[in-house]
Amino acid sequence: MKIVPSKKMSLFTPAIFGDLKNFAKQQQAKGMSLIDLSLGSPDLPPHAKIREHLSYRAGLAESYGYTLTGTQRFYDAVSRYYKRRSNVDLDPTTEIIQTIGSQEGLVHLPIAFCDPGDIVLSTNPAYVAYDAGIHLAGATPYYMPQTADNDYLPDLDAVPEEVAQKAKLLILNLPGNPVPAMPSLAYFEKVIAFAKKYNVIVLHDAAYSEFYFTGEGPISFLAAPGAKEVGMEINSLSKSFSLAGTRIAYIAGNADMIAVLKQLKSNLDFGIFEPIQDAAVVALDHAEEITENLRATFSVRHKTLMNGLRELGWDAAPSDGGMFVWAKYPYDIDCTDLAFKLIEQIGVVTVPGTVFGTAGQGYLRLALVQPKEVLQEAVDRLKNVSIS
Ligand SMILES: Cc1ncc(COP(=O)(O)O)c(C=O)c1O
Repeated sequence: MKIVPSKKMSLFTPAIFGDLKNFAKQQQAKGMSLIDLSLGSPDLPPHAKIREHLSYRAGLAESYGYTLTGTQRFYDAVSRYYKRRSNVDLDPTTEIIQTIGSQEGLVHLPIAFCDPGDIVLSTNPAYVAYDAGIHLAGATPYYMPQTADNDYLPDLDAVPEEVAQKAKLLILNLPGNPVPAMPSLAYFEKVIAFAKKYNVIVLHDAAYSEFYFTGEGPISFLAAPGAKEVGMEINSLSKSFSLAGTRIAYIAGNADMIAVLKQLKSNLDFGIFEPIQDAAVVALDHAEEITENLRATFSVRHKTLMNGLRELGWDAAPSDGGMFVWAKYPYDIDCTDLAFKLIEQIGVVTVPGTVFGTAGQGYLRLALVQPKEVLQEAVDRLKNVSIS
């Protein structure tokens, strides 16, 4: 039988992650010890309270039915968390929708709001799921650069008028992946004014909201005055609570937008395993206690890697938060070639910048997912790299 994939499939290119991982495994088989800084998968275990509750709930016979949507308990916990953390009021019934990890929410959301021909404003570089969602909806991306000139914040004033007029959705991610830029109230105020002027829906991806090293932490988009009139925030328990494998996240904000998403979602899936939803309630209700250790750990890791790379002449974007270091390397070589060379020569696995967009050429993304001693070892190994 001749299998002919749809034309749309040409837009979904296989991820380079697989090739890098396979190459790393081959080198490991030859005796190379690997330091894997590629995936942003949290290495810290979920807090014991969360695991114990998940295990208890999974032991109950009544936990195995379809949940269809999020449980009221889950929505109430998200609402309590937003109130405590950001002083944002959310109606648990109308202003929050659960998603199967934020990946699922991000990839499906543009279908709910965009038609072919509509423009989605995203960034270059950006987290890869945004493009997948834009392509699935048949919409057209317009990439705003994220560069040092603008504190790595996408410059809305530089979006051409005709693009802004056609824009339907704006996706932001602060602190971001791969660029760990931090949001501010002043920036979000600009975003809201832009969204009102051009009738653009805003989606802020706050996946790294609990990864900060100084002060009170990144402001929630929904805490900016008027945000709920124009948009939503998506957040996940994957990173902040080390629950990546349990696939649980949520989108919160404008009730009319959430209603559209609920309509779409009711056609896509039948909800998340109830014990996972209840474990998420425990996580959200103990967020401050649980994420304190995360911050202490990642802040030390960030300092170790940043200082080490700088001493080697790498230009790493400074940041007060996030899970990654976004670093311009001091060699004249393609970033994918360099990523393979680093695995081959020193066993350090990173992600080439162009995975996140053309602006990533010359950069590597390094995830802070190893203990500080291992990050120091990675820096020490980098001293011995030979790039001709
Ligand atoms: C910015 C950003 N958003 C969303 C996700 C998806 O995370 P999850 O689907 O586990 O919630 C990731 C994962 O790396 C990410 O970096």
